[in-house]
Amino acid sequence: MLDFDDPIPLPTSQLLADANQPLANQPAVEESALATSADSTPIAAPPATPTLMKTILPRRLPELASSLNPVSIGHKSVDTDSIRIIGGKHYDVRQPVPVKYPSVREHFLNARNNFWTPHEIPMGDDKVQWNTGVLTEEENWLFKCNISYLTASDNLVPDNLSNVILQQITANEMRQYLRWQIAEESNHIESYFFILESFGLDEKGQGQIFSLYQDVPELVNKLNWNLTFTNHLLDCEYPQASPEANTALLEDLISYYVFEYLFFPLGFSQVFALARQGKLRNTAQQYQYIWRDENLHAINERWLILQIIKENPSLWTAKMQERARAIVNEAVELEIAFGKATMPNGGIAGLSVQSYAEYARLMGDNLLKSLNLKPLFNIKEHPMLWLAEFEMKQEVNFFEGRVRDYRVGTALDWN
Ligand SMILES: [Fe+2]
Ligand SMILES: [Fe+2]
Repeated sequence: MLDFDDPIPLPTSQLLADANQPLANQPAVEESALATSADSTPIAAPPATPTLMKTILPRRLPELASSLNPVSIGHKSVDTDSIRIIGGKHYDVRQPVPVKYPSVREHFLNARNNFWTPHEIPMGDDKVQWNTGVLTEEENWLFKCNISYLTASDNLVPDNLSNVILQQITANEMRQYLRWQIAEESNHIESYFFILESFGLDEKGQGQIFSLYQDVPELVNKLNWNLTFTNHLLDCEYPQASPEANTALLEDLISYYVFEYLFFPLGFSQVFALARQGKLRNTAQQYQYIWRDENLHAINERWLILQIIKENPSLWTAKMQERARAIVNEAVELEIAFGKATMPNGGIAGLSVQSYAEYARLMGDNLLKSLNLKPLFNIKEHPMLWLAEFEMKQEVNFFEGRVRDYRVGTALDWN
């Protein structure tokens, strides 16, 4: 039996065997077959490295510059004009220069400069409140649903990025940004985990809260809605970069733009409403930092959608524009249903289901306008202006704490 301290055996013979077979459908190769020729005359084993390189690497360039394609031999440089945000051809996406989209590199630098860690936010006051029954029964239900949904949804975003989006993106700087975003979403999940852990809940208690999204139809419906777009792209039978695949990609990106721009802020507003009543203010501070990240994600997502449309104008048909509006309409309906399910008695102190629904419609309209589309609801006034208190302006520290020492310098505008 192998011991964990045993050295890992190097499968040299298997590497040689792999190197001498076509890449697809490789049959198993016996070691003895490498050491003898057909007439059983012993032959010298070829030098390992040159054989491996020569056989595995492709002799011609892949058609599409996807990260899943092998390294493109012979293309050590690429001109800016040939780089495309999706569907780029005949270059290797692993080369960081030239930078075709400097604003996306800026997105990355901004995000990196805003990095924070949940563990630096003191949670002691919230622990006391959680354990001394400060929250009403309604507030308790709302909070549990809220953190359960947000945790599950923050898991969906990186899954979508890694499983379907990164395969399509053919600009190095955007790939770099999206990989950083995946790390940030993991940091958000850690934040939710840390919140419940800080309350003193054991694994069983945490699990009962985290798994709530599976029991409440309005929560699981919202999650499944986004998953449908991911799966549609995963199951797409059309080739990458075909008009059909690009349309599915655009739909998926719009649904996740909804995530970053609408679903998350609406969810955060519920905990900010509690904080306005002096409840769970430490948790609200965690949410503030997450919200700041989600704003940057939304900015980048919008940029990506608009750039794809700019480079592929034939995708942005009148039908597709109506489809985008229908997607946002569905999202708003799901969000309103979520609001009703999490606030079954019409609201909590400082937050009514009605104003929550208005906020969802307002954000839906704003999202559509940000894509140059006609709004659906024409909401005139922001129903929850007090949310500005919780919006993190980079030059202002809202709370004391070491997190403020992280550099904050990002303007949250759309330019
Ligand atoms: Fe997130
Ligand atoms: Fe995000």
